[in-house]
Amino acid sequence: MRILIIGSGGREHALAWILRNADHLFIAPGNPGTQEYGKNIPLKVTDTKGIVSFARDENIDLVVVGPEVPLADGIADALDEGGVACFGPSAVAAEIESSKAFAKSFMQRNGIPTAGWKYYDADQFQDAKAYARELGKCVVKASGLAAGKGAIMCENSADSEKALHEFMVQGSLGVAGNEIVIEEWMEGEEASVFILTDGDDYVLLHPAQDHKRIFDNDKGPNTGGMGAYAPAPIMTPELLSTTCRRIIEPVLEGMAREGRLYKGCLYAGLMITDQGPKVVEFNCRFGDPEAQVVLPLMGEDLVEAFFCSANGGIGNLRLPSPSKSAACVVLASDGYPGSYEKGFTITGLKAASEVPKCLVFHAGTKLEGEEIVTAGGRVLGVTAISSTLPKAIESAYLAAGLIDFKGKHLRRDIGYRAL
Ligand code: AMP
Ligand code: GLY
Repeated sequence: MRILIIGSGGREHALAWILRNADHLFIAPGNPGTQEYGKNIPLKVTDTKGIVSFARDENIDLVVVGPEVPLADGIADALDEGGVACFGPSAVAAEIESSKAFAKSFMQRNGIPTAGWKYYDADQFQDAKAYARELGKCVVKASGLAAGKGAIMCENSADSEKALHEFMVQGSLGVAGNEIVIEEWMEGEEASVFILTDGDDYVLLHPAQDHKRIFDNDKGPNTGGMGAYAPAPIMTPELLSTTCRRIIEPVLEGMAREGRLYKGCLYAGLMITDQGPKVVEFNCRFGDPEAQVVLPLMGEDLVEAFFCSANGGIGNLRLPSPSKSAACVVLASDGYPGSYEKGFTITGLKAASEVPKCLVFHAGTKLEGEEIVTAGGRVLGVTAISSTLPKAIESAYLAAGLIDFKGKHLRRDIGYRAL
């Protein structure tokens, strides 16, 4: 088995951990953590040509794509043309994440429950403002990919006017903000559901919950995610089955019908409302940090599922039922998700990884001589697995406390909803 992982974050380190027993494992570009399990290859995730030639030259059996940007750019299509199997959707299927305008109209056509919404293009600023004013409390979203910065929660029309001005007039997100979706604000608790699919059948992974805000008690701006845990008890077996029937299956059928056969991981971000689960967003890949809890819980049983997702036959696969819980605490640089300094020495990595049942995943780190230093907003993810969620949370915090770097910031309340 020769496997190539694309990406360099905590999610990709968790993927490398799952795939560590492959005969040959490559990660492009990877990070100081992934090189413990395989060989890092200095190729950018957007270098589609370079990745396809590397995969062909190295006789790669499967490429596993972590982030959304290469998928939206068509890496799965290019690999397919080059005769290389890929875990991840084609560009037209990835539009379920890369175009909120497409995702919302797709949901509407297919009767999939989601927040009420309207779409505006670049020259409809006045109309967009008027609709936002009519809604009052609402969410203003850039249609394109915006690395987690594309949704602004607006309490009133002053907020929405400011958000629309930033996206549509100032162009703060570039082309991603040329098209806008304005949504009703849904009340409820959020949960993330992941499936692996070959386009026909699917397997369900443990539902997770992410912590998007930077500070405890969900205060401060949204981030990529400050921690996660799984399974999330809010997703009862009943809710999961409703989600499969009303959301997951209609998506797979609708995408196939519309000529956008969906393969890979589908991430449904849900709001559990009084009227049942509604879609906040779809992502065309694993969540991060959610992957850092969902993947370790499943372990190597997932390797075959990745192959089946790419090559077909996932319907014959039976994944073992969950029996453990996992929690992940993200250690971030002071200032994130705004600007922050980099290059600070990280200590305690070895001690943390020696805490029983703990895994330290690298995200924004860099090797400088003999030292590992900070190199990004989200620096590390510390995951612990245990028989119960409270024990997993306790171990994750124990290990996270052993790691230090200047400006280390973490949330102290990961998993509070479940506790
Ligand atoms: P998105 O970029 O669509 O994933 O949105 C980012 C985050 O904003 C979500 O995870 C939610 O916390 C919040 N959010 C997005 N849309 C809505 C909505 N319609 N109602 C309430 N919260 C939302
Ligand atoms: N943690 C949220 C995401 O990966 O989109």
